[in-house]
Amino acid sequence: MSKGFGETDLNVPAIELIDVVAGYGDKIILDGINLEVNHGEIFTIIGLSGSGKSTLLKLIIGFLKPRSGMVRVNGKNITRMSERQMNRIRRGMGMVFQHAALFDSLTVYDNVAFPLVYRREIPAKKINRIVHDKLEDVDMEGTGRLMPFELSGGMQKRVGLARALAENPRLILYDEPTTGLDPVITNNINGLIVRTRDRYDATSLVISHDMESVLKVSDRVGVLVYKKLAFIGTPDELLSSEKPEVQAFIRGEEILEHS
Ligand SMILES: Nc1ncnc2c1ncn2[C@@H]1O[C@H](COP(=O)(O)OP(=O)(O)OP(=O)(O)O)[C@@H](O)[C@H]1O
Ligand SMILES: [Mg+2]
Repeated sequence: MSKGFGETDLNVPAIELIDVVAGYGDKIILDGINLEVNHGEIFTIIGLSGSGKSTLLKLIIGFLKPRSGMVRVNGKNITRMSERQMNRIRRGMGMVFQHAALFDSLTVYDNVAFPLVYRREIPAKKINRIVHDKLEDVDMEGTGRLMPFELSGGMQKRVGLARALAENPRLILYDEPTTGLDPVITNNINGLIVRTRDRYDATSLVISHDMESVLKVSDRVGVLVYKKLAFIGTPDELLSSEKPEVQAFIRGEEILEHS
């Protein structure tokens, strides 16, 4: 386990956003976000395209700094952390990107080994064992020699997850893990998200468009509407929410931006 991220402290939330305001240039995308994600929880953020879901992830991984408010990860205030400090914290996080984001010119093996090789202090033999273990964890054993273009979309997502698991993360961030996949593969990936949480005892923050997946995998859900989290609760509470903007989202209706 990495020193930077620290031991898991069960007394503090795994992720905490307090009154966060964030955006790009003159544009405010998130305005007053308050969120606590508990250790070991699968928490899903849903919202329309462009509502700021990926922006929220960027705040947690420290790629974007909030204009005001505070972001804490495993009890550590990362709001004003330097890149150097942040890189240490990031070793405790695994990120599965919106588009699988594999390196096209590297084999499956080298893609998964990448974060380990990058660190330089890990002996080749150990890297070899880790890569094999991680590919097995995502049911992709024996595919190390393949190139990304030889894989289906679902397989690419699996390799992306294997890479995210390489350093045994305490926190796994998934940006739209099932978007663009057919229902069978979607089911498959959803099963893998739950299994990974159980196996790694990791907190999981999932971004999703897909209501069916959300209801299946999430312990709790947050709905992003009009720059704010309009709802936070369990899937059952989500279905019975009487908030019009939440109901509209569940029914897949167009919600007009008032910005
Ligand atoms: N680097 C950037 N510079 C300027 N504007 C950006 C940048 N990244 C995102 N945006 C804008 O911020 C808004 C929110 O983007 P974000 O990617 O967080 O939305 P999203 O909910 O993840 O959307 P999607 O479901 O399409 O992935 C959008 O209007 C987008 O155009
Ligand atoms: Mg996005």
